[in-house]
Amino acid sequence: MGSPEEELKAYGPQQWLAHAWSSLVRGAASARHGFHVGQLASIAADGAPQVRTVVLREVSVEARQLLCHTDRRSGKCAELAAAPRVAWHFYDARRKLQLRLHGRAEVHVEGVLWARRWQASSLGSRRCYLTTDAPGTPQNAWDSGFPAPLRERRPELAESEAGRANFAVVATTIERLDLLWLSARGHRRLRFAWSPAAPGGGRWDGGWVTP
Ligand SMILES: Cc1cc2nc3c(=O)[nH]c(=O)nc-3n(C[C@H](O)[C@H](O)[C@H](O)COP(=O)(O)O)c2cc1C
Repeated sequence: MGSPEEELKAYGPQQWLAHAWSSLVRGAASARHGFHVGQLASIAADGAPQVRTVVLREVSVEARQLLCHTDRRSGKCAELAAAPRVAWHFYDARRKLQLRLHGRAEVHVEGVLWARRWQASSLGSRRCYLTTDAPGTPQNAWDSGFPAPLRERRPELAESEAGRANFAVVATTIERLDLLWLSARGHRRLRFAWSPAAPGGGRWDGGWVTP
């Protein structure tokens, strides 16, 4: 068997597509993977693009879905409610792989998916949802935003439950995918779009494009 790079060079479009999705699945599962953290772009109320770093929490290949967690009081939640079109960007420098994905976001603040993701959240993660003021609230001086008892420590499990009221899951359903793999002998780029009307409930169509 050749090196991973040699294997990738032999890939056809459908293998690259599968590689993109399996890389995202691994990225969600491991904090050490280059896709664990990505950039999520949305459209602000004035029409300007807005982008921020978020942790990729869960990926469903079948549902074409990428999940991240956020504070429901944050600016992005209002933006996404008004304009659900989003783009994701990931770059894994070690594997020289960039993914750009376009889709639509849904903000969950209750329900089965939301409850499952809250249960899966560590105490350290839950602490983010315990700030007194909403993210982005102007302050006269630096302040972590946590209530006094939680300034220097993680919440206990019972204390962390207060964060539930601020917790939101952003579920994005992907409709387009652009992959770029850098290689000294020539970069490889592929573009795919989800065709919902295709037999069997839809399929990914696409292939090579000039890098
Ligand atoms: C490495 C890193 C990971 C982050 N992960 C998240 C995250 O998972 N969810 C989140 O809401 N914000 C996360 N942030 C903070 C966002 O980038 C952003 O500052 C914050 O969510 C406010 O964005 P907004 O004003 O567009 O809502 C992260 C920032 C960094 C640097």
